[in-house]
Amino acid sequence: MNIAVIGAGAIGGNLAVKLSAAGHDVQVTGARGPENVGAEVLASGARAVELADAVLGRDVVVLAVPFGAAGKLADLFASVPDETVVIDTSNYYPDLSGRIDAVDNGEVESVWNAEQLGRPVVKAWNAALAETQRTRGVPAGTPGRIAIPVAADSEKAKQVAMRLVDDTGFDPYDAGALADSWRQQPNGPAYCTELTLEELPAALAAADRLKDVAVRDSLPERFAALPADYTVDDIVEMNRAAHR
Ligand SMILES: NC(=O)c1ccc[n+]([C@@H]2O[C@H](COP(=O)([O-])OP(=O)(O)OC[C@H]3O[C@@H](n4cnc5c(N)ncnc54)[C@H](OP(=O)(O)O)[C@@H]3O)[C@@H](O)[C@H]2O)c1
Repeated sequence: MNIAVIGAGAIGGNLAVKLSAAGHDVQVTGARGPENVGAEVLASGARAVELADAVLGRDVVVLAVPFGAAGKLADLFASVPDETVVIDTSNYYPDLSGRIDAVDNGEVESVWNAEQLGRPVVKAWNAALAETQRTRGVPAGTPGRIAIPVAADSEKAKQVAMRLVDDTGFDPYDAGALADSWRQQPNGPAYCTELTLEELPAALAAADRLKDVAVRDSLPERFAALPADYTVDDIVEMNRAAHR
């Protein structure tokens, strides 16, 4: 497929590598222009392009930008055809983006993002740590393969996103409509806990809005309790322990 990845950081950079390695034609861009896209992001054949050119003629656009940046991209998306699948990878952390009242008051993060962008989105790749996505993808059928929830209102768009999740080394799981995607937000039981396809449905079902937000907001203290040289396994265990 022809794919644009907007955002060339931890998430977008990895997706550009993985999706081009899987045979897709990938254009990638960041806020500071193509010259600031790292060489490692282009290692599997992705091309760095200007933001203004990134979304033209693409089947899929992956948004891997900080939460709150979608609104700044609305003009860019005005010329993108309805059939283009737009995938949102973002998560709301008020300390990073600043407080957004609608989301604080319970609006589902990707529903708010879709409003800002002015078009529907699929939510995927948000509920796995960047390091998990970079290092723990394995071929389909490998025992213990980590699953990633995918939520959307369009079944067609969801199927496209699910195939791409598979291409990046993870079992895609149909997590329902976009309005259901609060279950995969920070810091619910399904969020960055490296669960398999067998384990993920129960974790999504156990999500609890108030508790999950409280866990998210207690992350500074939880991180402070980790060893100084903490690993991705320590973070995953910390996330799992918050829901035991
Ligand atoms: N890190 C994780 O573990 C993780 C896990 C799951 C989901 N996520 C979510 O994934 C998204 C990206 O996170 P990240 O960790 O990859 O962040 P990051 O490393 O800081 O990268 C963000 C990228 O977005 C680009 N960007 C920022 N504003 C932009 C704009 N207005 N237009 C175009 N590009 C813009 C930046 O470009 P410049 O470099 O040129 O500034 C950068 O390439 C976030 O929403 C985050 O919540 C992160």
